[in-house]
Amino acid sequence: MKTINFEQLLDNISTAVLLLDENTQIQYANLSAEALFEHSRNQLIGHSIAEFLIGNTLNLERLRSALNNRDNFTDTEQQLIFKDGRHCLATIVVSFYESNENAVLALEISPVDQQRRISKENQQWALQQASRDLIRGLAHEIKNPLGGIRGAAQLLERELVESSLKDFTRLIVEQSDRLRNLVDRLLGPNKKPKFEWRNVHRVMEKVRTLLTLEHTQLFLERDYDPSIPDLHIDQDMMEQAILNIARNAVQATKGKGKIRFVTRVQRQLVIHGKRFPLCAEIKIIDNGPGIPEEIHDTLFYPMVTSKVDGSGLGLSISQSVINHHQGKIQVESWPGHTEFTILLPIDKKEEVK
Ligand SMILES: Nc1ncnc2c1ncn2[C@@H]1O[C@H](COP(=O)(O)OP(=O)(O)OP(=O)(O)O)[C@@H](O)[C@H]1O
Ligand SMILES: [Mg+2]
Repeated sequence: MKTINFEQLLDNISTAVLLLDENTQIQYANLSAEALFEHSRNQLIGHSIAEFLIGNTLNLERLRSALNNRDNFTDTEQQLIFKDGRHCLATIVVSFYESNENAVLALEISPVDQQRRISKENQQWALQQASRDLIRGLAHEIKNPLGGIRGAAQLLERELVESSLKDFTRLIVEQSDRLRNLVDRLLGPNKKPKFEWRNVHRVMEKVRTLLTLEHTQLFLERDYDPSIPDLHIDQDMMEQAILNIARNAVQATKGKGKIRFVTRVQRQLVIHGKRFPLCAEIKIIDNGPGIPEEIHDTLFYPMVTSKVDGSGLGLSISQSVINHHQGKIQVESWPGHTEFTILLPIDKKEEVK
């Protein structure tokens, strides 16, 4: 049997392989790992893997405990964020390995390709649609009898002679109104969008003026691409969508952070399965604490909030508006950086009736 040079073999596979010791220090890295981390073997070996990644991207505790318990585990969709700002979604297989009384952890990291990313996006999209439909259905069902309850309480109030009893009917009316208000917000804007040709920067500037008036300590930086052609949008709705996102950024930075509005033109983007030759990209970036991990996957669902006084409707409304415009919203967030990206197809004037 021919002898195999295992190091050469490892250098020829596309999966990044790292060996870590009990201090999560890198003991070995193959060529694919060098490429993934954009550091040479010499720069990697002897350093903790945490030195190359931001914050708690990798759960070091879990790695250590795998080593101590001689355990294996797999993370299918781990977000890796490197110190230089690059990031990718990866599958990580961690296995315990012992040789010559040396216990190490072997990490096999393979970045998730674009296809998987899109399929995850589609899956989330379908779930969001389903939850929105459910909530809308429920909201309608609540709204109908609510009108009846309120009306009946008012009729009853007129018949009551004793004024102390009127407190009760007033309470019914008051609480019905409160519920009605919530239901209306859950149902979202009920008017049809009025599409007109508008410059997207006019919308951004309106949002910016509003926020800077509200928060005088705010540092709001603009980086606009003036070459973006007019978009076929409902200006009021678009203002609301961008304001909801920007307001979250202001709240996350307690009105004192740094917020950036960036606009660009992107080519050949796929949005919900359809390819568009030209799209406008609007980014709202803040340097706040980042989106809490536990709501990452349900961020756009109605009533998801981490705020004491939040209704959790802001992002859900933004998303329905952007959907009405055939666009999509993407989010990337880690401590110190949250980036919302709105992508809107740029229609050609002659093609829109
Ligand atoms: N820029 C951001 N930084 C950190 N967390 C954010 C950011 N944007 C959104 N979030 C998180 O997403 C949650 C949902 O946001 P959303 O705007 O839908 O609701 P809300 O702000 O809580 O309430 P509402 O907008 O209805 O007043 C927020 O509670 C917050 O935890
Ligand atoms: Mg909000």
